Amino acid sequence: MADASAAPSTHETPTPPTGVRSPRSHLASDAPRADLNGEWRFRLFDEAVTGVAADDPGTGDGWGSIAVPGHWQLQGHGSPAYTNVVFPFPVDPPRVPRDNPTGEYRRTFAVPSEWLDGGRVVLRFEGVDSWFAVAVNGTPLATSSGSRLPTEIDVTDVVVAGENLLAVRVHQWSAASYVEDQDQWWLSGIFRDVALLRRPAGGITDVRVAAEYDPTSGQGTFRAEVTTLGEARVRIPELGIDLASGQEATLAVEPWSAEVPRLYDTEVSTDAETVRLRVGFRTVTIDDGVFRVNGAAVKLRGVNRHEFEPTRGRAVTPETMLEDVVLAKRHHVNAVRTSHYPPHPHFLDLCDEYGLYVIDENDLETHGFGVIDWRGNPTDDAAWEPLLVDRVRRMIGRDAHHPSIVMWSLGNEAGEGRNLAAMAAAIRELDDSRPIHYEGDRSSADVDVYSRMYASVGETERIGRGEEDQLTDGELDARRRGLPFVQCEYAHAMGNGPGGLADYDELFDTYPRLMGGFVWEWIDHGIATRTPDGVEFFGYGGDFGEEIHDGTFIADGMLLPDRTPSPGMVEMAAVYAPVRIDVEPDAGVPALLVRNRYAFRSTEHAQLTWALEADGEVLASGDYDDLGVLEAGEAFLLTELPAEASAALETAPAGPAVWWTVRARLRPDVAIDAPWAEEGFGLGAGQVLVRAAAPLPAAVGGEVRASDDGGYAVGPAAFDGAGRLVRLGGAEVTLARVDAWRAPTDNDRAASWGEAMSDAEAWRRSGLDRVHERLDSVEVDGDALVVTARTAGAATDCGFAVTYRWTPAGDDAVDLELDIVPEGEWPGSLARIGMLLGLAEGAPSDVLVDWVGLGPGESYADSKVAALTGRWQHTVADLQTRYTHPQENGARRGVTRADLVLGAGRLRVESDGVSVGGRASTGLELSARPWTDAALAAAAHPHDLVAGDVLWLHLDAAQHGLGSAACGPGVLPNAVLRPAPAQLRLRFTAVR
Ligand code: GAL
Repeated sequence: MADASAAPSTHETPTPPTGVRSPRSHLASDAPRADLNGEWRFRLFDEAVTGVAADDPGTGDGWGSIAVPGHWQLQGHGSPAYTNVVFPFPVDPPRVPRDNPTGEYRRTFAVPSEWLDGGRVVLRFEGVDSWFAVAVNGTPLATSSGSRLPTEIDVTDVVVAGENLLAVRVHQWSAASYVEDQDQWWLSGIFRDVALLRRPAGGITDVRVAAEYDPTSGQGTFRAEVTTLGEARVRIPELGIDLASGQEATLAVEPWSAEVPRLYDTEVSTDAETVRLRVGFRTVTIDDGVFRVNGAAVKLRGVNRHEFEPTRGRAVTPETMLEDVVLAKRHHVNAVRTSHYPPHPHFLDLCDEYGLYVIDENDLETHGFGVIDWRGNPTDDAAWEPLLVDRVRRMIGRDAHHPSIVMWSLGNEAGEGRNLAAMAAAIRELDDSRPIHYEGDRSSADVDVYSRMYASVGETERIGRGEEDQLTDGELDARRRGLPFVQCEYAHAMGNGPGGLADYDELFDTYPRLMGGFVWEWIDHGIATRTPDGVEFFGYGGDFGEEIHDGTFIADGMLLPDRTPSPGMVEMAAVYAPVRIDVEPDAGVPALLVRNRYAFRSTEHAQLTWALEADGEVLASGDYDDLGVLEAGEAFLLTELPAEASAALETAPAGPAVWWTVRARLRPDVAIDAPWAEEGFGLGAGQVLVRAAAPLPAAVGGEVRASDDGGYAVGPAAFDGAGRLVRLGGAEVTLARVDAWRAPTDNDRAASWGEAMSDAEAWRRSGLDRVHERLDSVEVDGDALVVTARTAGAATDCGFAVTYRWTPAGDDAVDLELDIVPEGEWPGSLARIGMLLGLAEGAPSDVLVDWVGLGPGESYADSKVAALTGRWQHTVADLQTRYTHPQENGARRGVTRADLVLGAGRLRVESDGVSVGGRASTGLELSARPWTDAALAAAAHPHDLVAGDVLWLHLDAAQHGLGSAACGPGVLPNAVLRPAPAQLRLRFTAVR
């Protein structure tokens, strides 16, 4: 076998592309172009066929076909495979196994004869995964890799007028795979567009734009360097700019920002060609350790976006890209990190147009070397320098004209080493107008910002104050202390979560050094698939027969695979809101702080409204037009109700809590350029309690009655002789006991960084997933039936001493005072603490729940900014969130009243207070499900969950928070549920 390293360039050599043209911008040109997307002939081989594609001059007649762009694994050839960190092949760089799926692509294309009349003919591939060789009419021309980067090949000398044969051989595994170890599906093939371009003689090879903005003068400076053999003119008609290549103009302009994405149509022409681009004037600087755009400190409220669509993988369509951008804008995201590679170029056009700050990340990750102590890591190996430097050059060559890009990133999780400096130097040489980012080297030696992923709230705060741990190298330490800090990833959105987003966001607002962060990540990469009997579902690692895989870790997005926003996404939108409206706890009176968090906009376009609400009814409402406008960064403290609201409060019906709600919405009468926003789009909302609920009227009337079968009747509740609740109103009760477990979330299943045990493990050790009740006593005490019991799990000695005190409140209502005292030594937290009821119900999914409390979406102790108190209705089916990997979901907090419309009649549950460890709160936490928690925990996919004939109802004093332990810190102390005595006061009414 030949020594691979001696070979000039094969799929097993760490060499940059061969036979290709220099990188250049992705520009819209009027030069002729033929789209080569569509059906190609295709054949998949199990092994890497040696030689180049030209060895097989066949036309591919009789082969199968494949859609280009696309991945072969999603078109019936081979299977997708998911690993996060580890390589699914031996770590043996740059060699790869013989089992190397190899796709042979063939198609013909037509070259019009006039294309050969001077000028060049060029093939352009926007992205091919992972290594490919190209031959035209039997002549091998080029080899390339860099899956998410373009390749241009000059085919002029081998094409003929009329039909030509294009052969492309693509290897799934190559040397390039070692530097493309991103946490995603391994998916191969020609997955981005292919085109044939006519490059006219005297045409425009490239345009490099400089468009800066000086916030003090309000002037922009513009210059474009045009690479051409012709005479180029550069025009921005709107600004009256008409320049030659290299000439500069300084004049008054409107700047570009994510908030106001002002673009100027620009035309660059020679006699032979015109290209159009959209220029945005903006300047990115770091002054005194603060990240600024156009002179203003900007906080990046970002997301990490992989390209993904469940049927197409990374071959995303323009429609999907637009959907992502619109969804991001609608959820108040202002920044995207293109984790972990340059995105499809059209996505960046959309970011320019709609306004999103972008970290454009190089296609580099070598994480799998971490598993072997980084031995042989390409990042630190001189042999890989040309390949890695070529990648950043191609990224900048393609993308530098986009105003939305505010930073370049060297890559992700590629360890440390010499090639970082080489890549950074190459970037600075090509473009020194943007800071450089890289997280994987804690010293930040080669970059301009200090970046980390998943730093805890505590550590982030220390960094914000400049009090982070020292680096051993004093000089590097001093340098890093002067850099702004970004969390390139934080708040891991796997499954139900993230919790604690608001805690981070508050720090970003507090400390100038903190420039914000990017939630991990945008979307669950669940692949649309089906069971053998045809049930559709979204698959994750292990669903495709992989030899090794990382299971559900691929489902960690804010969007479910079908792009339904998860509750975490809704929470993110509330936390990221540009007009934040929050309770001001230190004002001495009910008060709301309204903050304009834009960096550039006033609140002129925001209509501020108020409402006074009780029991979900609006008592009075109005707008705040008299308050005036907040300039960027300003705030109002609202301490007094509007006069009309005060009057309404005077006459408000006695009993329910009264809330003062303030909302900011897009004004219909102030036009801002926001094509992504619907009418009346919400910019922020908040609520403060102005009058607490009165306690429920005391239970009067009624007594405990002995029933004929030896049991008891207490109002509408029936008990057997052993004190077991068997009927509530019309509903048969199948189970009624204390419960402290939940179907673990992905976050619960993982140990928080630095902790020995996950929450789910602590609950398992506490026996919470398998509790049984021991009956201690059943007594009639005055007008109450008192049952005492001990609830505990097998194999442990910790448990709960429980007292249920049932008191009739007339014929139709019964009060329950529930007292729960934890006993024994507990290894950790509790999942929840409260009452679990099973109610026999023919169609539990269809039961309507009509409640007063936080809603309409779910809320948890550390994910509750988005939820507001009101009156909401959902069926039990709609209360569930169909996480790609089923787990605890759907809790509603602060519930003071809930009506369940059961087959057997309407059952009302009310609460006037719960407490845990002496901390009281209004309202309980309610969850209702058509299946048990055990079934939820056991389900691998949503279709495993089948509604039974029982409605499972949790009425909790509290539930544990969510945290972000699936990757990062767990539940913070402010949301942890520790074993502590708990009380609930509940009233059940059979509503007639
Ligand atoms: C980070 C990594 C991401 C992703 C995430 C966990 O370490 O950069 O690509 O793997 O963890 O979901």
